[in-house]
Amino acid sequence: MKRSKLKLMGCSSWSADGSPAPPLEERVGERRPFGRGNQAWRGASLPWLLLLGLLSSFGPSTAAESTREFVPGEIWRDTDGNPINAHGGGVLRHEGVYYWYGESKTGRTYLPDANKSWGGTRVDFSGVSCYTSTNLHDWKREGIVLAPVAGDESRDLAASQVVERPKVIFNRTTKQFVMWMHIDSANYAAARAGVAVSAAPAGPFKYLGSFRPNAGVWPENASAEDRVPARTNHLARDFEAGQMARDSTLFVDDDGQAYHFYSSEENPTMHVSLLTPDYLRPAGKYRRIFIGRSMEAPAVFKRQGKYYFIGSGCTAWAPNPARCAVADSPWGPWRELGNPCVGEEADTTFRSQGTFVLEVAEAEPAFIFIADRWNQWDLADSRYVWLPLEFSAEGKPVIRHRERWSLMPTRRTAQAVGAGQGGR
Ligand code: GAL
Repeated sequence: MKRSKLKLMGCSSWSADGSPAPPLEERVGERRPFGRGNQAWRGASLPWLLLLGLLSSFGPSTAAESTREFVPGEIWRDTDGNPINAHGGGVLRHEGVYYWYGESKTGRTYLPDANKSWGGTRVDFSGVSCYTSTNLHDWKREGIVLAPVAGDESRDLAASQVVERPKVIFNRTTKQFVMWMHIDSANYAAARAGVAVSAAPAGPFKYLGSFRPNAGVWPENASAEDRVPARTNHLARDFEAGQMARDSTLFVDDDGQAYHFYSSEENPTMHVSLLTPDYLRPAGKYRRIFIGRSMEAPAVFKRQGKYYFIGSGCTAWAPNPARCAVADSPWGPWRELGNPCVGEEADTTFRSQGTFVLEVAEAEPAFIFIADRWNQWDLADSRYVWLPLEFSAEGKPVIRHRERWSLMPTRRTAQAVGAGQGGR
């Protein structure tokens, strides 16, 4: 049972801080996006117009229909007019196309008896979906890229199981697209990592199976005391069978090394674990991070040589204040910087929970914070909150709510976009 979620409800009380207004404030959301009918670009100089031409992939493909604005929390429709269905997701950029993978949530939301104590509602697993876009606004549905299996309810991908937070990275050596996800039983007791592969970004993905990571291996920073079995020592308890893995993410560094970040030890402690060169298994080297801090919903990205982490507290579908941290290496030490959200509703991450940070090519803001606004009693109607992620003068991530905002062109080039998902 996902006991620690209940125990930790309301345990954290991070307050919104008063970080100085970010320099991008004027540039994001205050002007209309470029495109047809945009008065702001009348009289633009020739170099600007040339730049806009170069950046045509961010220009309107169906300008009449598209407002080219992000509207956090609104129903976001795909190019067929249906609500986008990709929750707890992540975005991979590959050869100029963005692939948005996420949990398909359809059908009735129900509360299994085993989850009544902590409100763990669910829908039956209906697959991992994928959408593609070249401008991050207009998303074409590619369909279900990892399908549920029928017939045997004990299988990982059966409708009654939990499959959450799928993330896809590209392996430049094997040329495979590798998906990792949280696999669980309906009561979240299994706490496993699942892996699937595909030769093409839009699937179909072949499921390879699930496991508890790092069986029989101590984390590099385990103390002598950590290795002594005790009733409350979940690390030692799970040493032989492998460590629990619930909410998770993947991060690919510029050198091609990939890391799996996962909530472990019943959730209070996170692990960062190196993957094998083919990205299919743990490489047998990992560390405990954010010890006792109960972090979930991890998102990791790199900027100017520093590594950043954004996570949430553990309150199931209920929102809580986000937290962020910085490090000089994925291994840490991670220095917590508090809640990156500022302004009204910062204490609930604007009623949402993070899932990914996307580094954007050829436009500003350079980073987008991607979150889910969960609807606990109608999970299929959960919404998306995409917001610019900026940085204070001191280098702290800052996320402000905006009713609506737009990407703006920049001189940054695709080559400047590197670490993150292994994409290019
Ligand atoms: C959240 C978690 C979600 C899902 C949910 C279930 O804390 O981030 O991915 O597991 O709990 O209640």
